Amino acid sequence: MKVIETCAEMAALCAAAQRPLGLVPTMGALHDGHLSLVRQARADNETLAASIFVNPSQFGPNEDFAKYPRSFERDLQLLEEEGADLVFAPPPEEVYPEGFDTWIEPGSVAEGMEGEARPGHFRGVATVVAKLFTITRPDRAYFGQKDGQQVAVIRKMNADLNLGVEVVTMPTMREPDGLALSSRNAYLTPDEREAAPAVYRALCAAEDVWRRGERDAGRIRRAAHNILGRETLVDAVDYVGIVDAETMRPLATTPEDRPVMIAVAVRVGAVRLIDNLVLE
Ligand code: PAJ
Repeated sequence: MKVIETCAEMAALCAAAQRPLGLVPTMGALHDGHLSLVRQARADNETLAASIFVNPSQFGPNEDFAKYPRSFERDLQLLEEEGADLVFAPPPEEVYPEGFDTWIEPGSVAEGMEGEARPGHFRGVATVVAKLFTITRPDRAYFGQKDGQQVAVIRKMNADLNLGVEVVTMPTMREPDGLALSSRNAYLTPDEREAAPAVYRALCAAEDVWRRGERDAGRIRRAAHNILGRETLVDAVDYVGIVDAETMRPLATTPEDRPVMIAVAVRVGAVRLIDNLVLE
């Protein structure tokens, strides 16, 4: 396994690598959610490339960039065990050199939910993913459904800009109690950790009323809010979104012929948790 710090060397090694090449972009602090992407990419491709880059441009000024969990040596060890060939781990100034001034601005897919709660977040995500795509020119790139709106933004960018990558979406990996694996779960106090699975229970409650025939988004949303409202350690519900799973457009009633995503963002103490389910 080679660890590469410069864009030029990464581009050269990817250009010379055996194809197909699969790319797994990450911000490190790897857990089983990330590793499920890595394992699928390993199985599908001749060359497995991963990136570890805590991307400053997708964090807001009051967000956790400085204290985002970092475990570089352990991450490298895990990637080595999974059979990664190339790990791209550039310093910030390699990705954003002095004078960097070109950005990818996603459209309406990035407007609501996370886009509204975190202004500029998806501009940062889309820009860094576009750069990773052009540096590595992967045949396939792997993303988790955990960040459902992020996948929709990347799929739209990939299509609109003819980037030609096969975008593979992998299911959300969860703890036994339903809490979606996330690097940020490490910030939860024991009490908050106990409260956090309410997010998944709220999604399941919403899915349940939908399965029983409810199609009114307001009533589906209320089923989720009822669960979240009972949990005193859930300090705020940023949103419960009922949206088209591809376009992220908010829905008043759920259609029968297109997948729907129910997405939740809450704050538990200092930690912001997001999760979603797709109804099909
Ligand atoms: P990061 O949060 O490190 O996540 C890397 C990838 O792992 C993303 O595609 C994410 O959706 C996926 N992932 C995280 N938790 C998961 C879980 N519980 N189950 C399945 N997949 C999971 O997402 C980012 O980094 C960044 O925004 C990035 C795309 C790397 C751009 O900077």
